[in-house]
Amino acid sequence: MINWKVAEELLNVYGSPLYVYDAQILRQTIEHITKAIPYPRKQFHFASVTNGNVTLLKIFRDAGWGLHANTPGDVYLGLQAGFEPSQIVYSGSNLSCAEMEQVLKWGVKTLNLDSLPQLQLCCEVFNSTQIQTPLHLGLRLNLPKITGDSRIGLPPEEFPTAITLANKAGLKLSGLHFYRGTGTNATTAFTEVIDTVLAIGKQLPDWQYLDFGGGFGYPYRHGGAAFDWELFGTELTQRINRLGREVNLVIEPGRAAIAGCATLYARVVSVKWQENKQIVGVDTTVANISVPSVHGGYREIITNTPSSIPHSQIYKTDVCGNTTYSRDYLGKNCQLPALKIGDIIGILDVGAYGYAMSSHFLHRPKPAEVLLLADKQHRLIRKGEDYSVLLSNQVFGVM
Ligand SMILES: Cc1ncc(COP(=O)(O)O)c(C=O)c1O
Repeated sequence: MINWKVAEELLNVYGSPLYVYDAQILRQTIEHITKAIPYPRKQFHFASVTNGNVTLLKIFRDAGWGLHANTPGDVYLGLQAGFEPSQIVYSGSNLSCAEMEQVLKWGVKTLNLDSLPQLQLCCEVFNSTQIQTPLHLGLRLNLPKITGDSRIGLPPEEFPTAITLANKAGLKLSGLHFYRGTGTNATTAFTEVIDTVLAIGKQLPDWQYLDFGGGFGYPYRHGGAAFDWELFGTELTQRINRLGREVNLVIEPGRAAIAGCATLYARVVSVKWQENKQIVGVDTTVANISVPSVHGGYREIITNTPSSIPHSQIYKTDVCGNTTYSRDYLGKNCQLPALKIGDIIGILDVGAYGYAMSSHFLHRPKPAEVLLLADKQHRLIRKGEDYSVLLSNQVFGVM
């Protein structure tokens, strides 16, 4: 439930547009996910590809979660947030030799590799850097029958070669990594494949851990299909228990953990009508939240107008960014009351792939990020940019 008085205050203090994260909602979501999986040998790792704000990462760390890194940049941010290297699981793709060296030098010990060449590179770097403690190496599974066509991962047929390769380097392949696909709300899409994945894991002679993703959905359409964490957690626990061996479980939710705690607020700067359709211009762009327009996802948009407005005064509305870029829509065909300049809109559930995917496309500085605390206090957790950012790293005077 949005407190519009607080939203108004925050926009006055920090400017508009503004990303606002609710710490209480984030902590409640973390707790809900954590409790939903009764399996004892489990560890959650927040997938920071979705959100790299260090203050938010610290909330995950304080809740006992580790970090899941998709890139060396994720590792870097995780270390800044105070995660121990041993609390970071890397599962990415296509690292250069220098990047692999960097990740190992930072002390990351658990790496899920997604191809034979990446595994080979990891083994070579491990041996050349003379790191003393062994790595926990896992393989990212590529299973088109389940996940559809994917460029990422190895098919089980390549596992024997991978095992030989790791053994030659004095390492063991102890992990299996499975990623169902992002944003899946159908719980059965996960539960139906558990046994298949476990059967493949058993083919690894030194199998110690199962990393089951990643990919859990978030109900952006409120009241619509939602991922059932309790069902998933119970089924997964039962199936692993049936294995009769002690397998450690890694779960690395991104979107599901952080999407719902954030709102992007913006102010209405223009209203016009095209026949019966309201065209609302706001002071943000798709560059600040590229998901709905560029990637086609839905985000609910609400306004600070009274909730008692009769249905007859609700209009089909396009919410548009403040540029002429043809895809600069924050929402199309929304059902909103007549708005006026100065009103506030809130784009809900933007905690995942929101700020993290924002860019300087359209040459507008990025908004600030603010953390709302339980007692309505607020803290700036990332400054808003000014126009000077558009010049950063540009080299002048060469012509
Ligand atoms: C290996 C891996 N794990 C976890 C995630 C997070 O995914 P999601 O936000 O769908 O949970 C990603 C996203 O790219 C990923 O590649």
